[in-house]
Order: sequence, then structure tokens, then C-alpha cells
Amino acid sequence: MIEKIGTLKKEISSFTILNKVDLEEFRLEFLSRNGKIQEMFKLMGSVPNEEKAMVGKSMNEVKNLAQKKYDDAKIKLQKSAKKSFGASDDISLPVPPRYTGSLHPLTKALNEIKQIFLRLGFNIADGPELEDDFHNFTALNFPPDHPARDMQDTFFVRRSDENPDENQVLRTHTSPVQIRLMKNKDLPIRSIMPGRVYRNEAVTAKSYFQFNQVEGLYVDKNVTLGELIETLVMFAKLMYGSDVKYRVRPSFFPFTEPSLEMDVWWENDQGGQWLEILGAGMVDPNVFDAVNVDTEIYTGFAFGMGVDRIALLRYGIDDIRTLYENDIRVLQQFK
Ligand code: PHE
Repeated sequence: MIEKIGTLKKEISSFTILNKVDLEEFRLEFLSRNGKIQEMFKLMGSVPNEEKAMVGKSMNEVKNLAQKKYDDAKIKLQKSAKKSFGASDDISLPVPPRYTGSLHPLTKALNEIKQIFLRLGFNIADGPELEDDFHNFTALNFPPDHPARDMQDTFFVRRSDENPDENQVLRTHTSPVQIRLMKNKDLPIRSIMPGRVYRNEAVTAKSYFQFNQVEGLYVDKNVTLGELIETLVMFAKLMYGSDVKYRVRPSFFPFTEPSLEMDVWWENDQGGQWLEILGAGMVDPNVFDAVNVDTEIYTGFAFGMGVDRIALLRYGIDDIRTLYENDIRVLQQFK
């Protein structure tokens, strides 16, 4: 009898429990009502009286050993089950927020502008941010002593006093792309030219040393001032809504004649104000001459608008620096 108990003890110790199936097998084999331990107790009757106490003690030890092994394994399996997905997990619980990227307000404003002009039959072109004096100034009919050519406004990358033609600048506007298009492309041209521009200005809530413009150029036979104004009004309505209040005023630019500016009325808590959104005009004949476009045959109009201002208005941002700091808390608001 004692021998049998010893064998059973070994069997229990060497049984490995790795999962729930093993656990149940272990229970059935040793601990259930028909299991080996109960079978063993049933044999107590045949044990001689003087040995009963000793045999009974060893049998209880074996029973406790099996029970403890079972309990420990069960707890261990329950703990590891919690770590992985199981039937008891609630799949209807909300998922923790995960932040995806979003478009920058400038990109969003620019996309809107592009969509409008694509609808109006314009295509999209671009040019370099590092420009030479000819494209940024001379070809655009800026006289040699024009204040815009001054160090105060322009970032010079290379500056030559003997030969100003060798000057290289960070473009101060997107108008030089007009020159590149007219020099390199066949007429007619109907393009917009978005891009970053630079001016040597103090950084404040309202001005920054870089900003974004969208240039427009339409050159063909019989392009008129009426068409320019119609195009700009159409743009204002598509951008700001068909009930937008706008006005067109005469202005001056070296590269357009006549020149004008467009304002839109901006409602705010203090009532409202006129805001200039773009400059425009008919391409000056001197500009056509600089790029060899025949002024007897062709006329054209051009315009240039600031994207930053549109983005500020559109999204209620009151400090232009916000657009360039890329604070994630700000950017996440533009979904
Ligand atoms: N280049 C001008 C500016 O930066 C805008 C403009 C473009 C005006 C085209 C007229 C025609 O202010």
C-alpha cells in the first residue's frame, strides 16, 4: 500500500500543466470522485488496523499535494489569460484616442484657392525661391532706384555694387514666375503660381519675414480689364460666399497698368473692416517687351494674393507667427 502511494505521488509531481486542457485532465485523473486519490481511499478498508493511522496520513499528504498543484496552476493560468484578448473582454468599449495627421491651415487655404482657379480654367505653375535681379525686379519694370530693391525690404543672397545684374535675392513676390512663364512657354498662358516669398520685415503678430502668395497670369489676344475684374469677383464669391461685400480700388504696381487692389468686407465683433486681399492689373507693355511678347497682338492681366491672410481670416487666427511655429496643440485643431 505504501508503495502504491509513493508511485501516485511521483505521478502527480511529474504531471505537467501548461493550459486549461491539462488542468482539467489533471483534475479528472487525480482529484475527481472517480480519480486515483479517491480510488486509493477506497482501499483503506483492506489496510490492517495497526497501519491505518500511518497509511491514512500519507494518503492525506498526497491528496494535499495534488490539490495544491491544481490550485497553483489554476491561478497561474488565469493571470496569463488576462494579458491576452479573451472571451471576457468587452469589445464595445471605446478605443483610446489616436491622433492622425492633419493639413496645415496654410495648405488648406492654398488648396481652396487652387480648386477655384482650376475651375476657372487656370493651370498651376511654379518657379524658384532664389531669384536673380532680372526676374524679381528689372523685367517687372522696377526702376533701378525703386525702394523695394532696398536692403530694408529684400534679403540679398549675393549683392554686387558694380554690377547689380548679378544680384541674387530671395524672391520678394511670386511675380518673377510670370516672367519665367512668358519667356519659356507658348502663348496663350492662363496659370496660377503659388509659392513662398520673403521680405526683410520685423516679426510681429501681423508681419513675418516669409509668407505665401498665389500669382495669376492670363495672356492672350484681347484680354481686357473687364475680364480681370470679372475673374476677381468670381474668385471672391467662390472663396468667401456669393454674398461677399467687395470693392475694387485703383492702385499702383510697376509691372501693371492700370493697377488695382481688391478689398473684402470682414465682419467682426467690433462691426467690421475692409481688408485688402489682392493686387492686380493689366500687364504693363514694358514687361511684355522684356520677355519679347508682341504688344500689338497680346494683352494680359496679372494678380497676386496673400495666402497667409486668407488662412488667418478663414480660421480665426490672430497672430501670423502661429502659422510658422507648428505647435502640435494648434495644428490638431485643423481636422
Ligand atoms: N506682386 C505684388 C505684390 O507682391 C502683387 C501683384 C501681382 C500685383 C500681380 C499686381 C499684379 O504685392
